[in-house]
Amino acid sequence: MSENILIAPSILSADFARLGEEVRAIDEQGCDWVHVDVMDGHFVPNITIGPMIVKAIRPVTGKVLDVHLMIAPADPYIEAFAEAGSDIITVHAEAGPHLDRSLQLIRSFGKKAGVSLNPSTPEHVIEYVLDKLDLILVMTVNPGFGGQAFLPAMVDKIARIRDMIGGRDIHLQVDGGVSPETAGQVAAAGADVLVAGSAVFKGGTPEDYGRNIAAIRTAAGSIAC
Ligand code: DX5
Ligand code: ZN
Repeated sequence: MSENILIAPSILSADFARLGEEVRAIDEQGCDWVHVDVMDGHFVPNITIGPMIVKAIRPVTGKVLDVHLMIAPADPYIEAFAEAGSDIITVHAEAGPHLDRSLQLIRSFGKKAGVSLNPSTPEHVIEYVLDKLDLILVMTVNPGFGGQAFLPAMVDKIARIRDMIGGRDIHLQVDGGVSPETAGQVAAAGADVLVAGSAVFKGGTPEDYGRNIAAIRTAAGSIAC
């Protein structure tokens, strides 16, 4: 288990009418990163936000903006998300035929490059791009919506990818159905960044967010930072 677990609330579960305040609240309540779910209604059956929203929230927080692109194709939009102020840009391995090229493109803008795997995608698809990666995101639900149930079969996949990473400086992130009930098992399997939407924004007040973040951190067996 990693000593220091990072918590990345997904703003998908925030109140979009007050998005700036919501981002400020999770920042002040101790989140580590801010996770931004970008959906296109094509790669996934939902439409959310684009680079303009990333640009709008950029001045609100100094924390890492972790942008999860659930869009296909992704390459034509990477420059716009980079210029909007993303720190990490993650593409799906299933989103296009040239993952290696997508990762090079992200790094060409000076950004950290991530790859995400849908639940049905085996981990071997990233074997030959490990040296071009800063982050691997294991989806523990089928992407598209917040509030879905965690898929337990993914725990084994997390552990296998932790082995693949070996001594490399690559974050292992988990996204979907992460809560105080599931955080312990994903952290024990080797995840070091936990994305949580509904479990963080539950309750609706900044104090709730602080308690929720702390509960996930504690369940993951981590020390608060
Ligand atoms: C799912 C998104 C997730 C989602 C997680 O497609 O990538 O980030 O918002 O939501 P919860 O934590 O509610 O499962
Ligand atoms: Zn996500």
